[in-house]
Amino acid sequence: MMVLLDGKKASAAVKEALQVQTQALTAAGKRAPHLAAILVGNNGASETYVASKVKNCEEVGFRSTLIRLESDVAESVLLEAIEKLNQDPEVDGILVQLPIPKHISEQKVIEAIHPAKDVDGFHPSSVGKLVQGLPTFIPATPYGIMLMLEHFDIETRGKHAVVIGRSNIVGRPMSILLSSNQKRGNCTVTICHSHTPNLKEICLQGDIIVAALGRPEFVKADMVKVGAVVIDVGITRVDDATAKKGFRIKGDVAFSEVAPKTSAITPVPGGVGLMTIAGLLKNTLQAYLQNQP
Ligand code: GUN
Repeated sequence: MMVLLDGKKASAAVKEALQVQTQALTAAGKRAPHLAAILVGNNGASETYVASKVKNCEEVGFRSTLIRLESDVAESVLLEAIEKLNQDPEVDGILVQLPIPKHISEQKVIEAIHPAKDVDGFHPSSVGKLVQGLPTFIPATPYGIMLMLEHFDIETRGKHAVVIGRSNIVGRPMSILLSSNQKRGNCTVTICHSHTPNLKEICLQGDIIVAALGRPEFVKADMVKVGAVVIDVGITRVDDATAKKGFRIKGDVAFSEVAPKTSAITPVPGGVGLMTIAGLLKNTLQAYLQNQP
């Protein structure tokens, strides 16, 4: 029987634990953990993600601050805003929602965030620690997927994991976590991308498939082995006049044809997206606890 890897259930469990820990802190007279998010411009999807991050902070009792900057803001102004948050002892975690406008260097922005507050885990210092197997902030989406595997007790040891996509935000860190020497790791990992010629053959060998390439319904039933675990990271907006908002969210997996072949699969929406938030919240509490004097 196929198991639906329900992100609502798994994220609710993570959030409940965070809420209990936060209540204990505030009951003891301490301030709550505090996440600061910077949104540049008004990209529709980014608006939605940031609003959801802020809402979820409230739900677990965290403080949050949203800083909005115009899309034509000077790079120096953004860097100064980050520096101010770096210096603020009452800010634990900082994130700049990506993508940012092209006139601003994404790399400069990522490196401007103090590693002790880098709850996205995008700073080279955080990435280096992740690669070396040291404690650090794990990027929220791969972290959320690991929490999902944990919640549903999906065995990874000795399995062949096929990761489609090599982005710094998902595919690359995912491949590192799955191959790492830890309980929910120890996979043999193949990382595929746009220059992989025999993608279908490789996917068919996957006991676990993580689809993180951002192409709606790319993974079809004939690419998936019977009994595989399929993790769908896609969240592309596809125009649809019959939908209330004029678009629908599509995953990277053709769910209706793939699901019957799998032993477990994440839905979209209601899967990995919710776990990303759970990962971010856990990182924010971690930053808070580590930065207490
Ligand atoms: N854009 C897409 N995913 C992410 C994420 O995890 N963090 C930030 N800051 N921006 C993103």
